[in-house]
Amino acid sequence: MNQADDRVFLRRFSGIILGLVAVTVTIIVLAVSVRNEPDPAANPSQQAFIEERLAPVSDVRAGEAGQAALAQAAAAAAPAAAEAAGPVDGEQVYQSVCMACHAAGVAGAPIPGSDALAERLAAKGTDGLVSSAINGLNVMPPRGGRPDLTDEQIQAAVDFMLQ
Ligand code: HEC
Repeated sequence: MNQADDRVFLRRFSGIILGLVAVTVTIIVLAVSVRNEPDPAANPSQQAFIEERLAPVSDVRAGEAGQAALAQAAAAAAPAAAEAAGPVDGEQVYQSVCMACHAAGVAGAPIPGSDALAERLAAKGTDGLVSSAINGLNVMPPRGGRPDLTDEQIQAAVDFMLQ
């Protein structure tokens, strides 16, 4: 191998390296220009447009007096909602959930006022019956199939059944 060969090799080699660098730069430039993602923060009118498209179809435009009336109605509704979650009405729970099975004794569900229920009460006590009602017993689903009922509501329903 002589010096002339070396020179030819070096020239070609650096040519190829330069070519590859040029290709890489081209790809980077292309990728950046293709991405071209508009930044929503940079364009407030675009953002407003999107929000307008996403807004509910209708809106309440009640004016100042109307707004006051709405606030009043909301305030009046709030305690009612709190009440529904708060005080526990065993009769209501029984009638809306438990009665479906217990009124007619479906699948052997003990009927309120029956000897069967009295026997269970004698055997397990109120606490035992309440814990069965909360955890379920054979066919009887936990909380009568209503996992949203609280322990207090189940307790009240059982108390109502035992009355
Ligand atoms: C899907 C029907 C069904 C619903 C709804 C239902 N029960 Fe029952 N329940 C049963 C059946 C069946 C039994 C008897 C289970 C057994 O002894 O195998 C039973 C048993 C019981 C017992 C006796 C448990 C024991 O330890 O002997 C109590 C108390 C009771 N249910 C309370 C309730 C209450 C309170 C509700 C409403 C929150 C309710 N049940 C809703 C079917 C139901």
